[in-house]
Amino acid sequence: MPRIANPGQAAAALWAGQLVGLPTETVYGLGALADDSAAIALLYAAKGRPVDHPVIVHIADSGGLDAWATGIPEYARALAATYWPGPLTLVLPRSARARDDCTGGQDSVALRAPAHPGFQAVLVALADLASDGSIGIAAPSANRFGRVSPTTPEHVLTEFPDLQVLDGGPCGVGVESTIVDCTNGEPRILRAGAITAEDIQRCTGLPVHVGSAVRAPGTLPHHYAPEAKVVLTSAEQLVAMAGDLERASIGVIALRDVQTPDGVTRLARPIDNAAYAQQLYAALRHADDVGLHTILAVPPPRTGVGTAVCERLERAAAASKHS
Ligand code: TXA
Ligand code: MG
Repeated sequence: MPRIANPGQAAAALWAGQLVGLPTETVYGLGALADDSAAIALLYAAKGRPVDHPVIVHIADSGGLDAWATGIPEYARALAATYWPGPLTLVLPRSARARDDCTGGQDSVALRAPAHPGFQAVLVALADLASDGSIGIAAPSANRFGRVSPTTPEHVLTEFPDLQVLDGGPCGVGVESTIVDCTNGEPRILRAGAITAEDIQRCTGLPVHVGSAVRAPGTLPHHYAPEAKVVLTSAEQLVAMAGDLERASIGVIALRDVQTPDGVTRLARPIDNAAYAQQLYAALRHADDVGLHTILAVPPPRTGVGTAVCERLERAAAASKHS
């Protein structure tokens, strides 16, 4: 019975060195105890993830910051105080506790306090078992390396049929956390998410940089791509684009106001940017499940979480061009 309902059971399995699928408000994670090198090795093997590709360590709240990081700038503490628990990951200089197997050998560690009550309950139960309030769970998205992140327990079990998964329902945000590099004097966004550049600017009062100078492994273009080819288009171009293709093999993702061309499958019709983010990965997976060849996607406006949605769609489209 891979699906479990009790956070205490999930905590016990993690404490015993096992991997557990865990709900977060962004996407499901594949969890392992961050202090347990053998469990982390299992995690990398299960995902098929290169060992130099660091994972996020999930903690209960900002009380765990000083256990896992050092030299924490005031602006990072302000971000944690404002947005934790929530869809925000902070990259900080690592403490001795954050070892090479979680950090990919880098001198920084990525930390996040997830808001999902199921995940929080697992952390509370683990803190009891370990008599340690700073317990950390390493959890990359619960997909095999390079595939679309899972936003339901069913998605996780498609990726890992034998895994124990704590059922926390569909994820509310739907795209991965915003990652902010806090190892310099000013914040730098490495991955867009629900917490926006404007949010970070407002909270810290500092200029916010965007994009990584060195390419972080997680930003390789093959990420976030389904099997189907993803093509970006506009509401105006959609009918013409569909006209050039075999309509039965096409899926469309666009905001609700955009009309569906005759004969194509409508994969999602989200009412706004937040709903677009929430439905995006399920829509990409559904296209593969029903064997569509092409997904025509009309990106949402670049406001709020729309920026993160556009970034994921652009990556998926770039990966399609390469394959
Ligand atoms: O929303 C999320 O962040 C989800 C849920 C499960 O929490 N997790 C997630 O993990 O997306 P993952 O492993 O799929 O992506 C983590 C990203 C990777 O792109 C990795 O390169 C980056 O975080 N990362 C981790 N540690 C880093 C570090 N020290 N410096 C820079 N990037 C880092
Ligand atoms: Mg991932």
